[in-house]
Amino acid sequence: MKNFTSVDQIENVNALVELAKSIKKNPFGNKQLGENKTIGLLFFNPSLRTRLSTQKAAQNLGMNAMVMNLNNEGWTLEFEEGAIMDGNKSEHIIEAAQVVSQYCDIIAIRSFPTLTDKEKDLAEHVINSFVKYATVPVVSLEGATEHPLQALADILTIEEQKQTARPKVVLTWAPHPKALPHAVPNSFAKMMLKADVDFVITHPKGYELNPEVTQGATIIYDQDEAFKDADFIYAKNWSSFTDYGAILSRDEKWMVTNKKMELTNNAKFMHCLPVRRNQVVADEVLDGPNSIVFEQANNRTYAAQAILTQILENAK
Ligand code: CP
Repeated sequence: MKNFTSVDQIENVNALVELAKSIKKNPFGNKQLGENKTIGLLFFNPSLRTRLSTQKAAQNLGMNAMVMNLNNEGWTLEFEEGAIMDGNKSEHIIEAAQVVSQYCDIIAIRSFPTLTDKEKDLAEHVINSFVKYATVPVVSLEGATEHPLQALADILTIEEQKQTARPKVVLTWAPHPKALPHAVPNSFAKMMLKADVDFVITHPKGYELNPEVTQGATIIYDQDEAFKDADFIYAKNWSSFTDYGAILSRDEKWMVTNKKMELTNNAKFMHCLPVRRNQVVADEVLDGPNSIVFEQANNRTYAAQAILTQILENAK
């Protein structure tokens, strides 16, 4: 593995999950691998879990980690090729990516979508510009269309928690006051379609994800029907993909409650966090015995460490 910006780049999910499991058992067992290596963690957007878990993963491998909030600490970047830079952009990505490559052995970037310019978002404008101009591997810390490190932590969590060989996993849309990106549901859907699970997506009409992503998934518009016999409920809000970035509904009937969870096969509740309590999910579920959101958050470290391990091994 050279870059890791999409679930599509995972050749063997089972092998990667096994690597993450073995790292979890012995997180400091490969500390020489990253000795004298540096990862640069560059954030255009806020983060709690991704920032800390990836930094921890790098440190577990013996790497140095440098963190920078590019949105308010760096020069404003120009991404357009051939731009006449007479406006408010001070540095071009061509120089920025190559300069960071002088200091770092791996560059990791978080860059959310605009949710207004669909074409630019689908092109993964920012992350792919780093891939193009950096001379070292690039890792996504959540891009415009994907959050692959989250999806790897999610499948690791499901593999650890499942009670049957082929569990039923339901990704459910839930209400939210803000327009949110598609990166988490996209990567989760891609991962579930590679995994040995029965995968169902449920959402109100108008909230269909990119059909290129969900091809092969079962889509059910009735949330109660979708929840029947589920082993895992994964809640997430996203804005409309068709009416790009729009909030079409805030229907509170889609919030995950104990009554909804009673329809399932005693399902575990998952969410990538951060989560809006009593909007997306009721306190009773999030604080209940079937909530595994902290196990999920903990697994972010081992997912990141598995990816960094593969990239460092590949660079030897
Ligand atoms: N799940 C996730 O990516 O969390 P942060 O936005 O806090 O990094």
